[in-house]
Amino acid sequence: MQGYTHNGPVNCIEPFDVDLLKGKTAIVTGGANGLGEAYVRALVTAGARVCIGDSDEEKGRKLEEELDGLFQRVKFISCDITNWDDQLQLFQEAILFSETQTISHVIANAGIHRPDDVFSYSGDHQEPKKPDLSVVDVNIRGTLYTAKLAAHYFIRQNGTQNSPEQKDTSLTLIGSGAAFLDCPRAPQYCASKWAMRGIMHSLRRTAFFYGSRVNVISPWYVKTNILSNDAFMHVSSVGVQFAQAEDAAQCLLRILSDRNINGHSFFVSGRKWASSGYMDLDLEDYPNNALLREIQEDQIKSAPVELGLFV
Ligand SMILES: NC(=O)c1ccc[n+]([C@@H]2O[C@H](COP(=O)([O-])OP(=O)(O)OC[C@H]3O[C@@H](n4cnc5c(N)ncnc54)[C@H](O)[C@@H]3O)[C@@H](O)[C@H]2O)c1
Repeated sequence: MQGYTHNGPVNCIEPFDVDLLKGKTAIVTGGANGLGEAYVRALVTAGARVCIGDSDEEKGRKLEEELDGLFQRVKFISCDITNWDDQLQLFQEAILFSETQTISHVIANAGIHRPDDVFSYSGDHQEPKKPDLSVVDVNIRGTLYTAKLAAHYFIRQNGTQNSPEQKDTSLTLIGSGAAFLDCPRAPQYCASKWAMRGIMHSLRRTAFFYGSRVNVISPWYVKTNILSNDAFMHVSSVGVQFAQAEDAAQCLLRILSDRNINGHSFFVSGRKWASSGYMDLDLEDYPNNALLREIQEDQIKSAPVELGLFV
């Protein structure tokens, strides 16, 4: 395992082997529905043990019952990711659930989308109302708690002396098309999804000390409960091709199966753009921009990755 270097886009067409995932323990937040459920199904089918942390108790318990009946390797923990104690308990339970008392992979998937109060106009004859920032609260604060806990357990398991003996661990953050595209009327959701790339950019430089890595999966429109039926019908009516939850799940397995994948962003797209349903956008570096590369070098000099490590 090495420090971060830009090594070009990951080949998303070549076959990969999920054998490495057998017996590993993964945590999926927001795993009771939608894309999270697809990640859970793919991980457990690949041989992993999976802890689902979700605030939807009814759906979470139902999924646990179904999958645990088939594989005996799935556990649901009721968890609101904005609540630190809930998330701490999720990680503690995952350690107990693991055959090796270790957590290998964390998928910070839980997220919400709401009509955006930051954008909406309060009206000519009203004072502006304090905006509801619950999207920021769940998508950023909740995910930062997940990132903090993931790093804590990874460091406890692997130490911070980089060596080949360290066991692979990873954090996968969930962005969106809204993490790199212009999405009108949604400043809060866009901010929260760009933030996933910000977290990744910071952690990708230091994760190797504890044998870890961090990547982002950014799904395009996938039909789940995140938007209303009417909203998805509108998207469909203007000719937008949806992406598939199963392709997002394959993208996750691709990332987790290859220890060399660190600091990349993947777009889970309509098949018209990618034959496998996902691609490495190679968005996260500036290979053709000498000025930005130079500024980045100065930034690293001014905040060296080794200094004040983890204290
Ligand atoms: N579906 C899409 O089109 C799409 C596109 C881009 C990105 N995403 C992202 O994918 C992720 C999953 O979205 P989805 O489409 O599957 O949505 P979904 O609404 O179908 O599922 C989200 C899950 O997260 C859980 N959740 C929400 N708030 C929570 C909280 N505070 N604590 C714990 N669990 C919580 C919900 O109970 C649910 O099980 C989100 O981060 C979302 O932003 C989705």
